[in-house]
Amino acid sequence: MADDQHKSKRRKTKGDGPVVRIGDKTISLSAYLQPAQPPKKEPTEPKPEQEQPAVEEQAGALKERAREEGPPRQDKRKAARHSRVHPDTPFLKSRRTLPIWDYQDEIRSSLRRDNDVLLIVGETGSGKSTQTPQFLCSEPWCRRKKVRAPSGEVAVGGVIAVTQPRRVAATTLASRVAQEMGTPLGSSREGSVGYSVRFDHNIPKGTKIKFLTEGMLLQELLRDPHLRQYSAVIVDEIHERSVDVDLIAGFLKQILSGDKAGRGGVPLKIVVMSATADVEKIQGFFKPEPPSHSDLDPDSEAAATATPATATATATAEVQFLRIKGRQYPVEIQHTDKPVPDIQEALLKQIFKIHLQEPLPGDILAFLTGQEEIETAQRLIEEYSATLAAGVPKLAVYPLFGQLSMQAQQDAFRPAKNKFTRKVVLATNIAETSVTVPGVRYVVDCGKAKVKQYRSRLGLESLLAKAISKSSAIQRSGRAGREGPGKCYRLYTAQTYDGLRDADLPEILRNDVLGAVLTMKARGIDDVLSFPLLDAPDLESVEKALVQLHFLGALGPDGAITESVGRRLALLPVPAPYGRVLLAAAEPEFDCLPEAVDVIACLTAGENIFLQLRSEDEAAEEVEALRRELYRREGDLLTYLTTAQQCFAIRSAADRAEWCRRRRVSARTMRQALSIRKQLRGLCLKEKLLPALPPDDDDDDDDDSKEEKSSFRPLSPERAAALLRCFLRGFAARCALLAPDASYVTIQGGAGGGGGKHLVAIHPSSVLHGQPKREAIMFLEHVFTQKNYAKKVSAVQADWIVEAMAAGGGG
Ligand SMILES: Nc1ncnc2c1ncn2[C@@H]1O[C@H](COP(=O)(O)OP(=O)(O)O)[C@@H](O)[C@H]1O
Ligand SMILES: [Mg+2]
Repeated sequence: MADDQHKSKRRKTKGDGPVVRIGDKTISLSAYLQPAQPPKKEPTEPKPEQEQPAVEEQAGALKERAREEGPPRQDKRKAARHSRVHPDTPFLKSRRTLPIWDYQDEIRSSLRRDNDVLLIVGETGSGKSTQTPQFLCSEPWCRRKKVRAPSGEVAVGGVIAVTQPRRVAATTLASRVAQEMGTPLGSSREGSVGYSVRFDHNIPKGTKIKFLTEGMLLQELLRDPHLRQYSAVIVDEIHERSVDVDLIAGFLKQILSGDKAGRGGVPLKIVVMSATADVEKIQGFFKPEPPSHSDLDPDSEAAATATPATATATATAEVQFLRIKGRQYPVEIQHTDKPVPDIQEALLKQIFKIHLQEPLPGDILAFLTGQEEIETAQRLIEEYSATLAAGVPKLAVYPLFGQLSMQAQQDAFRPAKNKFTRKVVLATNIAETSVTVPGVRYVVDCGKAKVKQYRSRLGLESLLAKAISKSSAIQRSGRAGREGPGKCYRLYTAQTYDGLRDADLPEILRNDVLGAVLTMKARGIDDVLSFPLLDAPDLESVEKALVQLHFLGALGPDGAITESVGRRLALLPVPAPYGRVLLAAAEPEFDCLPEAVDVIACLTAGENIFLQLRSEDEAAEEVEALRRELYRREGDLLTYLTTAQQCFAIRSAADRAEWCRRRRVSARTMRQALSIRKQLRGLCLKEKLLPALPPDDDDDDDDDSKEEKSSFRPLSPERAAALLRCFLRGFAARCALLAPDASYVTIQGGAGGGGGKHLVAIHPSSVLHGQPKREAIMFLEHVFTQKNYAKKVSAVQADWIVEAMAAGGGG
């Protein structure tokens, strides 16, 4: 206790870190500027989430805070004692102006007693994501309780999970809510808000509200099917209908309708939120089914106190529904008169027009389809900005797309560095919902988005630019009215808008359902076809996924998940085929796990590690020459490995950055890759795939006093072959053989390979492009643009493919 008080004092004196002010808003950048350090273990401190007294106490403090904020106010003295949570008053002022503020009592009471489900629909900006968890975390049902479960005494509840479809939403929301609650992220080990996204966790001690990606919650469900840590799960942005959110909905429905013995009878409250939701469908889905037996464990005292109402009342309850009347600032929408022939050109013109005609301040958010389009536009805008006369404000461009590193994504949320500058954020649809890009007054919407489409007949996934839905268009224009009145320029006609679909197809209906099926299997759902889903994928895709999982060795002949492969794959935070590569690489026969980790780190770090060379780049020749030293005749994967190994062998971060710059290798991506490598290595150690950490596993800092890192040694051809054979364990179906006419033809059968054979060409971005043809190639990605292109290509031998097929039980 004394120790606790001491700590909270220490935190207060530390200051709240760097902040920026926009108008009357103060936004802390601490979470961005000091990326979350995984809390270092201190022997005297228990793990954050197992910390019970703190949570209990925090709950008390929060209750008081809630009282202090709204009427009735009382017992301030007691609140002052619990000084760890104190809402920031400037924030309180702006929070009070949010439309949702007036609904807080209703939100609280909708979940009291036996009501376990609430659906909230409200316009974007009404305050759903930031306020709802704060309203609920002081409720009595939100306290952590010790209860009896079949496995013995357990602690249940105390934390509210809020899921987000994207990492950037989870981290920025956590940062914002942490500020609002007066415990900014990164300023202390303690706090009321945390986040957990893939490869990045920041859960301060005493966390009451945890923002996490849907994928992370699914991971947690695998480890704890009862979600005992949580009192409530808030499923935000359900209308985006990712595969993950559909699975979460299914699991939550099961927890809701199952017996709650695993939670000692304590119900899990569920809040579903969205800007545009199919209310009836969601209400129908979560409507409790009459239980066949009593819901409650009669022995459990907690159950009796937590839910005074009877189980039968629960059974007949309707799903509560609340519509928040929005008060979005007005957004003036302009369509084009005629369809535009060239979107890119129209977009640039529109941005320049806004820049020259509209006063500062007022930043621009433009929606483009993908990374390549964004990078091209960025270059053109920067060139244009350089030509502007001295008296005209400059333009500062920030890209924002999913493949970008977290660091770079967060740059887009900061105000432009220089005064007299207009910020232009060029984003994909990741900025469409949930996030608030401060400063934006103008939105330019190209009307398209790249969607992943799974063509189960081909067994291939492709990214195609497609017209967005009305719902997306509305969301996009809404981004202009977050902080004041705004304007939205749509680069399509009003007629085109009228013809748009109302909403997008749920991802589960257009995507590879591999991960979904694996997750279901790992959760013991044998009959995946009868798992409760808002929309069930077609039989064909499910069957394909089952075949591929069988090929990967994740499912046994009886269709049940295998312990040796399937269960481990489900726990690894990488797509199943990559997970399979890691498992193979750990086998003594191949013994190349550190190398496989390096390659996978590069593959999952974000942007392509090689930046596109510009023709006007003066150093292009020199860059090419330096790059050629990295290229390996085995193909792209080995080239990534060489690049990673050479880059990571450089001791100082500054030298590494210089090394990257000279080769036009993305230093940002390499930093991210290094961080992923570290985490994957740690995970492999934990899962006993690695006996010990490789010798060069030190902190990625500039500690010159360190021993020389193991210097770079190129991989021998035998070891390179072993690595590629490991990759084939995951990707044997993504192979093509050289045909007599010197074209590459995909192999028949195999995992998800579909029935037919198809021609593929090596993409110009591959190091094997334009090289002499080989017997066979393996490609990790496939894009369908003008041609069927294979990307991330390696030369392989036909008998390795045969070997991998045989090992996997497929073929
Ligand atoms: N990171 C942020 N920076 C500045 N303002 C923010 C931030 N996040 C939220 N806000 C403010 O809070 C309001 C409510 O946001 P949010 O709770 O995300 O709304 P909703 O989820 O209903 O779309 C926004 O309109 C904006 O004014
Ligand atoms: Mg939201």
